[in-house]
Amino acid sequence: MSAIYPGSFDPVTNGHIDIARRGARILGHVTIAVLDNSHKNPLFSIQERVGLLREVFLHDENIYVESFSGLLVDYAKKKGINTVLRGIRSADDFAKEMPYAVWNRQLSGNVLETLYLPADPALAHVSGSIVKEVAAHLYKNRHDDIVLAHMVAPEVRTALQDRYIT
Ligand code: PNS
Repeated sequence: MSAIYPGSFDPVTNGHIDIARRGARILGHVTIAVLDNSHKNPLFSIQERVGLLREVFLHDENIYVESFSGLLVDYAKKKGINTVLRGIRSADDFAKEMPYAVWNRQLSGNVLETLYLPADPALAHVSGSIVKEVAAHLYKNRHDDIVLAHMVAPEVRTALQDRYIT
């Protein structure tokens, strides 16, 4: 079995890594699909986000990384995959995710189903947007960034340093 794990991954966090690996253990294979959403003005370009994910999952043989644009249902159809994987950190996440799952199922003619994995509570506070916000301040003010080591992979920490330390 195979699933698509879609997202912005700007940047990938330890929360995403945990969901992808746990998902792959259950489902067999996971294709991480990075949304090419340049209109959202991401910190990392689509090439950088895909590159970081590929570095992080270099030794995970059952996890692949690709980019996509347009509707997720069209990408899933092209790949021949009928399952979407998403992580849920909170009731808020669940409320946001529900419409996506329903839309994707209806848009696909009841083919594309979404499976949710609960986030590890130790990582439930971690999001790409807070990581970026904290990193910007830490590096701008030359503070110790050790707290980021619990939230992102070393490659991502280095990429954040490169981006914010001028
Ligand atoms: O990491 P994010 O930003 O929460 O991920 C959101 C994502 C990429 C899963 C969602 O925006 C998405 O699937 N976008 C693709 C466009 C699409 O299919 N939209 C309609 C789904 S209802």
